[in-house]
Amino acid sequence: MKEAIIYDSLSGNTEILAKTIKSEKPNILFEKINNKTKENLKNIEIIYLGTPIIKGMCTEKIKELLESLEDKKIFLFVTAGYGISDEYYQNLRKRIVSIIPNSNEIIGSFFCQGKMPDAVKEKYISLIKEHPDDKNLKVSLENFEQAKTHPDENDKKRLLEEIKKINLT
Ligand SMILES: Cc1cc2nc3c(=O)[nH]c(=O)nc-3n(C[C@H](O)[C@H](O)[C@H](O)COP(=O)(O)O)c2cc1C
Repeated sequence: MKEAIIYDSLSGNTEILAKTIKSEKPNILFEKINNKTKENLKNIEIIYLGTPIIKGMCTEKIKELLESLEDKKIFLFVTAGYGISDEYYQNLRKRIVSIIPNSNEIIGSFFCQGKMPDAVKEKYISLIKEHPDDKNLKVSLENFEQAKTHPDENDKKRLLEEIKKINLT
């Protein structure tokens, strides 16, 4: 089956995962999403599709592409700043899957944290100064620190393991 790796990435985290898949599948179409992507996917059957989470959703470009896909097998890989619980990832997954037309099949997915810009930390620190009793802000700051090293080697390994599990019927 013809395969492709398509991704969006604003600061490089999701691109790290895309390149990890490419390292295992060096000869397939590898493309950061652009205005030719839709056309380039015409004869592709399996798409490894990557996106960061921006404001609770995939990027606009990926959204537009996903909504247009028909009869593809899709493996989603996603980086998000927050990684507090599996439930968080499950909700994001549901939200993304809900925009994908039914003729497509989701053959797997992978989520991990991705580091965030320092400006985010500075914002939390100034908010904590204003609201010292706000526990959520402290959790957010902890989460920022936790995200700093991701995606890491273990994330890459887990991603490839998840891809190995794909069972095409
Ligand atoms: C404008 C903006 C909005 C973001 N919104 C969210 C969000 O709603 N939820 C989340 O978990 N992470 C959010 N993040 C963090 C990114 O999902 C995370 O850093 C991701 O790994 C970025 O991937 P990239 O480097 O491939 O763009 C946001 C980041 C930016 C820059």
